[in-house]
Amino acid sequence: MTSFSFASAQASLPPDVREELEQEIRQWRGSGLSLLELPFSDHDFEAIRAGAEQDLRELLGLSAEHHVLFLQGGATAQFSLAPLNLLRDGDCADYVETGLWSRRARDAASPWGAIHVAATGDGRSLPHPQNWRLSPSAIYCHVTSNETVEGLQFETFPDLGRIPLVADMTSDFLTRPIPLGPFGLIYASAQKNLGIAGLTIVVVHGKMLRSRRQAVPGPFDYALQAAARSRVNTPPTFAVAVAGKMMRWLIGAGGLPAAEARAAQRSASLYSIIDQDSFYSCPASAPDRSRVSVRFHLAEPSLDATFAAEAEANGLLNLRGHPTVGGFRASLYNSAPQKAAQALAEFMDDFRCRKG
Ligand SMILES: Cc1ncc(COP(=O)(O)O)c(C=O)c1O
Repeated sequence: MTSFSFASAQASLPPDVREELEQEIRQWRGSGLSLLELPFSDHDFEAIRAGAEQDLRELLGLSAEHHVLFLQGGATAQFSLAPLNLLRDGDCADYVETGLWSRRARDAASPWGAIHVAATGDGRSLPHPQNWRLSPSAIYCHVTSNETVEGLQFETFPDLGRIPLVADMTSDFLTRPIPLGPFGLIYASAQKNLGIAGLTIVVVHGKMLRSRRQAVPGPFDYALQAAARSRVNTPPTFAVAVAGKMMRWLIGAGGLPAAEARAAQRSASLYSIIDQDSFYSCPASAPDRSRVSVRFHLAEPSLDATFAAEAEANGLLNLRGHPTVGGFRASLYNSAPQKAAQALAEFMDDFRCRKG
């Protein structure tokens, strides 16, 4: 039986990428070493890192003024490290609260500056940028592009003029083209759309680094890491190599416009089943529904356990929603094949016919 994982916490890898990795773990290019054993200081690893950076630059269309950092610590560390790097004593930053992850980002930022909540969502829809109450002196405005728990995703991003956006893109990084103009900084953990856990990618515009606080620990100091090509400390070498392969795979599969089309197709096949009648429902309002985190509830919660058990028996794994909101969630990250969404849609339809 073919199994598909819809886990939110970790994506599956595309079969081609996994196969290449298996070979290179056994033997790195005839060297007698495994890919897992490459020293970060070696020219082979530097070629891997530089290739990954180049591919990211191509995918996102980055300028020479953008720095690409390969760091450890996950997006959770960036919740503190972004304000620590970008704010000086007395500085203010705006935060847009749209769900669990943006609230965590706001909470973590509060020791490092005057944190002002510019807008708060209701967990079912996103506050419209026209209604954000921005602080005139904000150094940046933080947004979470895809709220993984609530299943809400910004379709577009406002250009706030003088105030650059700082975005946590962990759950929809590289799933679509984005206009870079509004952004001063983008960060994302890699395990959802770009490989495996252990790597955080930070893309930061040079203008954000001009007046920074002094006391940032070296491994988390953006300016220092930018100057050292992410080698102030040992980078997560294997996770960087996996991310590099994922970026090659994305480029080979048509880049970000094609990734966006695939995401739209995958999520549409589930939403069309959810919206057919009242057997299933999606708590996220239609215009803000995520293309990567598709949530649904059964109208009859007493069927939840049967649904989960039957889905698992059919190879449809890890569908439970986040414990804070319950229900179900299908995470459809970059490497999710269309046939995974199709198999889930067919199962949901069949389940409805049998139990509805
Ligand atoms: C939007 C978002 N931000 C941050 C995180 C935290 O990532 P990490 O556990 O890698 O720090 C997650 C994890 O699910 C997430 O979905």
